[in-house]
Amino acid sequence: MIDFKKANLDDLIAIQNISKLSFIETFAAINTPENIEKYLQESFSKDQLTIEISNPKSPFYLVYIDNKPIGYLKINLGDAQTEYFEEPTLEIQRIYVLQAFHGKKIGQLLLDEAIKIAKQLAVDFIWLGVWEENHRALHFYAKNGFITFDKHVFVLGDDKQTDLLMKLEIK
Ligand SMILES: CC(C)(COP(=O)(O)OP(=O)(O)OC[C@H]1O[C@@H](n2cnc3c(N)ncnc32)[C@H](O)[C@@H]1OP(=O)(O)O)[C@@H](O)C(=O)NCCC(=O)NCCS
Repeated sequence: MIDFKKANLDDLIAIQNISKLSFIETFAAINTPENIEKYLQESFSKDQLTIEISNPKSPFYLVYIDNKPIGYLKINLGDAQTEYFEEPTLEIQRIYVLQAFHGKKIGQLLLDEAIKIAKQLAVDFIWLGVWEENHRALHFYAKNGFITFDKHVFVLGDDKQTDLLMKLEIK
């Protein structure tokens, strides 16, 4: 049974667990252990996640299978977005689904929720940054109509990586 709900601070540990495990599953094989560890400690500490979850402009949405939290969506609205655009836009900062549950359309469910919110808010487009080596995610977003429009540097520990910026027109 699949459930889906907007998260709050009570979900901090579930979000922390999914964040860390999903990041390790996706990126540990192709990055140094030091860089991965530094990112996990900085980005997914309880303090950092508490700030993020408490921000009303950065809602999190959790997915459960049989009451177990297995994935989440984090979007950024307004000035919570990590890049500035003149047009009204919505950023998908993270869609994380635990590996054991990939290929079951959970990512699709989370993306569809972001698209629904983007339409309600009448933004011009949804955008996101995705690592150029994350082929599975690139394929997933391209399949859903996202196109690459720019790139920026993402620093993982001491490694400078390229994130592709992709967008989906909503208007
Ligand atoms: C990217 C991600 C969100 C997709 O979630 P998901 O629940 O597996 O996606 P869905 O089941 O809705 O869709 C599966 C799609 O993923 C892609 N996909 C699945 N397996 C793949 C593989 N082995 N290689 C490449 N693409 C693959 C395909 O586009 C597939 O669609 P298809 O079945 O129609 O071909 C998920 O893989 C994930 O959380 N990855 C780890 C974290 C991450 O990289 N997040 C995105 C960057 S922030």
